Amino acid sequence: MKTNETSSETELGGQFTFPTTELTVRRMGYGAMQLAGPGVWGPPKDPEAAVAVLRQAVASGVNHIDTSDFYGPQVTNQIIRRALHPYPRELVIVTKLGATRPPDGSWQPATSRKELTAGVHDNLRNLGLDALDIVNYRTMGAIHGPKEGSIAEPVMVLADLQRQGLIRHIGVSNVTATQVSEAQSITDVVCVQNNYNLAHRDDDALIDNLARQGIAFVPFFPLGGFTPLQSTTLSAVADRLGVKPMQVALAWLLHRCANILLIPGTSSVAHLRENLASAELKLSQQTLAELDAIAAEAGAASPSRTRTANEDKR
Ligand SMILES: NC(=O)c1ccc[n+]([C@@H]2O[C@H](COP(=O)([O-])OP(=O)(O)OC[C@H]3O[C@@H](n4cnc5c(N)ncnc54)[C@H](OP(=O)(O)O)[C@@H]3O)[C@@H](O)[C@H]2O)c1
Repeated sequence: MKTNETSSETELGGQFTFPTTELTVRRMGYGAMQLAGPGVWGPPKDPEAAVAVLRQAVASGVNHIDTSDFYGPQVTNQIIRRALHPYPRELVIVTKLGATRPPDGSWQPATSRKELTAGVHDNLRNLGLDALDIVNYRTMGAIHGPKEGSIAEPVMVLADLQRQGLIRHIGVSNVTATQVSEAQSITDVVCVQNNYNLAHRDDDALIDNLARQGIAFVPFFPLGGFTPLQSTTLSAVADRLGVKPMQVALAWLLHRCANILLIPGTSSVAHLRENLASAELKLSQQTLAELDAIAAEAGAASPSRTRTANEDKR
């Protein structure tokens, strides 16, 4: 289903290979949730603009797109198919299961074998694929934090679907460290997708632990999601560097740890360009310490860092 790749020389933050896989992506990817209508429901106001964002992302070297059939529902996957199918060979599309969207637009758990199996087939059909590269099992704990509880049953269902060849690799999302370990006792986990950004750093220890295992950590809400990041420190740093605050927030994530892959969401080509350009931004140790203080002030733990940069540089 995939054609030869459209290549790009762009480095876009360096590369990462998902463990136990043949899948290598650039660290700066794209999250497609913003392509659906308001409230992640229905079609976007301007479907052509949504198509343009996706094509621009791929033309710029992005080869990791995050999506779900519950964005819209179906809308986002159908736009991805329309914009990019037949897909470049190197493109990795990551989707997620575990929720459904009833007609009232709410988000409800969908974790039974029947629902998960139907969800895989819905994603395959709407994306126009024979197999899904990576599927995250997404728990429906609170949006700002996962809840403890066994995820063994749904992960075993995904492992069965993997054995049938419908899913290549498995990840987990909105999960605790205990749930990650539980999933790892069932199958190889190639990525974890949780809420994490400059100001929301509950997962600092988990990120470091995953880094030691070579597992990707993919923050959702890297820019604050529905509540965009706002901080006088962030704005001051951005002013000093002559860039936008959101660019600094993304660059900080790339510096935070080498296993962090970015999927910032946007419905705008202008914002997409800004976000992709942040992969070129090098932050000094002094700037990183200033930015670390944003969360430290809010009581978060100070992290370790696996990449270093000596000076701020675009
Ligand atoms: N696993 C999960 O449970 C889960 C949950 C949520 C999201 N996700 C995934 O994670 C991806 C990222 O999360 P997200 O899209 O919710 O949040 P986000 O990337 O933190 O922020 C998106 C918001 O920031 C704005 N934005 C983007 N670039 C900007 C820029 N350069 N300057 C100013 N504003 C900018 C967007 O508006 P514009 O459209 O106007 O640019 C949008 O309102 C999603 O697209 C989705 O694929 C996963």
